[in-house]
Amino acid sequence: MRSDQRCGLIVAADEKAIARAARLLRDGQLVAFPTETVYGLGADAENGRAVARIFEAKGRPRFNPLILHVASVALAARIGELSPLSRRLAERFWPGPLTLVVPRAPRSAVSDLVTAGLDTIALRVPSHPVAAALLEAFAGPVAAPSANRSGHVSPTRAEHVAADLGGKVAMILDGGPVTIGLESTIVELSGGTPRLLRPGALPRTEIESVLGTRLAAPVSIETDRPVAPGMLESHYAPRAAIRLNQRTARPGEALLAFGAPPAGHQGPIFNLSPEGDLIEAAANLFAALRKLDASGAPVIAVMPIPEEGLGEAINDRLRRAAAPRHPPLAP
Ligand code: TXA
Ligand code: MG
Repeated sequence: MRSDQRCGLIVAADEKAIARAARLLRDGQLVAFPTETVYGLGADAENGRAVARIFEAKGRPRFNPLILHVASVALAARIGELSPLSRRLAERFWPGPLTLVVPRAPRSAVSDLVTAGLDTIALRVPSHPVAAALLEAFAGPVAAPSANRSGHVSPTRAEHVAADLGGKVAMILDGGPVTIGLESTIVELSGGTPRLLRPGALPRTEIESVLGTRLAAPVSIETDRPVAPGMLESHYAPRAAIRLNQRTARPGEALLAFGAPPAGHQGPIFNLSPEGDLIEAAANLFAALRKLDASGAPVIAVMPIPEEGLGEAINDRLRRAAAPRHPPLAP
């Protein structure tokens, strides 16, 4: 007996299975599915808790923004702002292994956890027939990183997903081995010159020939390190200073609470999870930072958050928000 049959998770991707997978996504569950590049670990992008489960399942110690998978250019255009240049690339290469990072549409319902709080959003329309059918049936955006544990190689067959994430997904749609086996190429079109953020399955020269210009040099988004000065880190940074591990806030400070808040707090407050649930806390994190930042408080005091499960990624994010900014803000 094959191990994947033992866990009963791998299901041949026929019409019935795809309909069931779409229902599981609607219920906030995780579904792994084939794309033409690698297998993805999908969740309803508009459900913050479902998205938090992706990070929990992958054991990722930090929150990287995720790629949104959609069925059509029309749906992509409701979630992100497609400039004429973005549209030209979308029309030429979608469906296919190209991801476009574009400004987020102001009224999109996508969870802040998908974008790690950024104002930009990564979109792609996959060409794999199973991915396309699932997105069509689900009829909304699906956030999906590669379906492997953090630090492991990307899965190219359903069995790889079962071996890595067996106990963590509701279903693995089996569409056979993927054809490309290399992640999508990521191009950012949110500002001036289009930039190559990640080389991938679609050669840069093909993109450049459609654009009629060279793509700016890659930035290491995987390591978070800009390769040239002045290039922004791909993370949202609050304006307020952050004080970690505080049981109470000082007068004038905002409080980012977790669990039972201290009695008598007067200023702005956001409780990540009154019950102390780390999945709920992760789902709320970026919206909470934005809200408290917008309150105008100069400092956000943060209550202690346990360094376990998703707490590791939450604390990583908060520690980086608390660290001195570079380059320093102009006086
Ligand atoms: O082929 C693929 O792209 C696969 C399949 C499943 O579609 N997905 C994939 O997702 O590789 P993931 O989560 O492993 O990689 C997403 C990459 C990360 O490097 C992330 O930093 C970048 O996309 N990214 C997502 N949103 C971004 C944004 N708003 N700005 C900059 N980078 C972004
Ligand atoms: Mg990956």
